[in-house]
Amino acid sequence: MRTQIVAGNWKMNKTMSETEVLLSELSAKVPDTHAQVIVAPTFVNLVSAKNSLESSTIQVAAQNMHFADNGAFTGEISADMLLDIGLDTVILGHSERRSLFGEDDALLAKKMNTAIEKGMTAIFCFGEELDDRKSGNHFSVVENQLKEALFHLEEKAWSQIVLAYEPVWAIGTGETASPEQAQEMHAFIRKTIAEAYNDGIANNVSILYGGSVKPGNAADIFSKPDVDGGLIGGASLKADDFIAIIKAI
Ligand code: G3P
Repeated sequence: MRTQIVAGNWKMNKTMSETEVLLSELSAKVPDTHAQVIVAPTFVNLVSAKNSLESSTIQVAAQNMHFADNGAFTGEISADMLLDIGLDTVILGHSERRSLFGEDDALLAKKMNTAIEKGMTAIFCFGEELDDRKSGNHFSVVENQLKEALFHLEEKAWSQIVLAYEPVWAIGTGETASPEQAQEMHAFIRKTIAEAYNDGIANNVSILYGGSVKPGNAADIFSKPDVDGGLIGGASLKADDFIAIIKAI
């Protein structure tokens, strides 16, 4: 049985006090679940979030990190700095990092190398643009993202990888992929990994769906056999919505 995960990517939202309020609500309301529940606040709130959730089942992740250990990288955060505050899970390759901050799969391969070398769990994000899907290129785009950023890794690295398929056209738009679209792509991703590695790795890697997951559509998406949970943006910022999504898995 693959690990089921519901992760909240808070993006650039919530001050420290707002973070503490939301985490207090989530801690009080989070249901008993077989799934891993993760929240990813902003960098400045990671320590307080970690402290707030010390006695909770909810885990904390970072939204990004640099591949270098230290140095002249103004504004960046290293893996060691995250590990030093007790965080071992990091989101990498989010579409906003790619489109707004110029991150490409070659750079992400370096970040993935660092995360794996440091023993971290990396939630690797990828997905096609609307034009790619309209032109029927979405499978080849996704396959190339996986190949460029991940397929150089050794088999043992895959125990530290969670995949998050996030069609860019569904992120923040309310245009959620249908459960069938999600299942089709997730099955393709698993087949691609099986061809590059083996069935064991392909069947064991958790593949999350992200892109306008809401309380009203989560259960149908999560019900698909190759969907192992969700990476949630907007709906993770409201306690009741995020709790409803957790209950849906
Ligand atoms: O990383 C998750 C995020 O990209 C999805 O955002 O607001 O469409 O759930 P949203």
